[in-house]
Parts: sequence; C-alpha cells; structure tokens
Amino acid sequence: MSSPEIGRPSNRSFRLRGTRITEAQANATVKFWDQFGIAPDREIIPAEIFPDSSEVIMEIGTGMGEATAEIARIFPQTGFLALEVHRPGIGSLLARINEYQLTNVRLINEDARIVLEESMPDACLDALHLYFPDPWHKKKHWKRRIVQSDFLDLIYRKLKPAGYIHIATDWVPYANWTLAKFTDDERFAGGIIPKPEFRPLTRFEDKGIGKGHVVTDLKFVKV
Ligand SMILES: C[S@@+](CC[C@H](N)C(=O)[O-])C[C@H]1O[C@@H](n2cnc3c(N)ncnc32)[C@H](O)[C@@H]1O
Repeated sequence: MSSPEIGRPSNRSFRLRGTRITEAQANATVKFWDQFGIAPDREIIPAEIFPDSSEVIMEIGTGMGEATAEIARIFPQTGFLALEVHRPGIGSLLARINEYQLTNVRLINEDARIVLEESMPDACLDALHLYFPDPWHKKKHWKRRIVQSDFLDLIYRKLKPAGYIHIATDWVPYANWTLAKFTDDERFAGGIIPKPEFRPLTRFEDKGIGKGHVVTDLKFVKV
C-alpha cells in the first residue's frame, strides 16, 4: 500500500531515506494522518494548534517516534510538534499515537528548517528537541550537519524568551561541535547536562551504545 500525499510536493534539498514503508506504517498513515498531520503550506501557529497546552515543544527529526511518543505520554499538558522528513517514521509515530491514545502530538512531514523559516512566526516555541541528529562523520559532509550558525540564528528567532533547545548525540565529535557553536554565540547560555529521566532510550541510541558510543545531552537557553 502506498502512503497518501501528506505534505507539499517535495522539491527540497534533502533526499528521503528509506522509501520502504511497512504495511503497518502505511495503514497508520492512511487512518490517522488527517487527524494528526499538518501540511506545511500554511501558517503554523503553535498556540492555535494546541490552545489548551501550557507549552509547545518542536522535535526535529523524530525518526520512528519512540522518544516523541514516550515524552508526550509523560507530559500530557505539553503540545508536541513532530517534524520528520522520513515517511516510514511518520507512519510509525502515528501508530504509537494511536496505541497510547495521545492527543498532544501533531506531525509535519517536511524539513524542519523550511517549516520554521517559511511557515512559523517568530517567538512561537517554548523549546526544541533535537535527538540524535545525523552526525555526518566525514569532514567533507560537516556542512550537512543541522547545527550550523544559520540554524542558531533561526532557532533564536523562533524560540520564546528563555526558550531552550535540548540536544542529544551519541557522537562525541558532534557534541563538541555543538558545544563550540553555542558557546561562541552570546545569545545562548548552557552546555552539557545529565541525561534527563524523561528522555527514553531509542533503538537508534541503543545501537550507538552497543558500538561503544558515549551519549551526551546538551541544553542551551535563549538569553
Ligand atoms: C539519526 S536519526 C534519529 C531519529 C530519532 N531522533 C532517534 O533518536 O531515534 C535523525 C532523523 O532526523 C531526520 N531529519 C534530518 N534532518 C531533518 C530536518 N531538517 N527536518 C526534519 N527531520 C530531519 C532524519 O530523517 C532522521 O529520521
């Protein structure tokens, strides 16, 4: 079964990885996209999407949605905007939303940078979660890392005053890269933090730990 059209036609710079979608993911997409999905070709105002939530957090790159669903279950008063370019991941998160009967998650199938830049007003988010961003190990690929100076500019604008970004990575050089970028930027304060209890272990993280990778959590607040 193929998944329905769930965003605007993709003419963007990223390449969709793993176009194979399982039947369960495709079924969940067909059944639940209309209820939980948001097409990015309109203005996205978090406070309007979650009028009853005390705060709204955007998670960038939700993967299979394991952490997203677990955290949304723990914090029912918080609205979660889940951004993922990978359609099987969208289907997987929709299935978890149904399994856990969550009402506080909405999904967007688009590059988070484009959604933030083109569809969302400034100072609209309480926080961002960025868990295990693609590390792009080779030097020639470092420019593809999402944490770049222009990304800091973008999130600075989109976060509310005192808003924050929580990042986790299992690649120490990427943790150091992230720490350097944020430390160089006077608009943010923070650094390495202990792993918060609410962040569950995902399959991706578990695989990294199995390979001997050290996981680093970092938090930076907009000052
Ligand atoms: C290494 S995976 C980690 C997934 C998940 N956070 C976890 O911990 O299991 C990184 C994910 O980020 C997604 N991604 C990368 N760049 C993105 C972007 N600009 N906007 C939205 N998703 C993105 C990828 O498709 C991929 O699913």
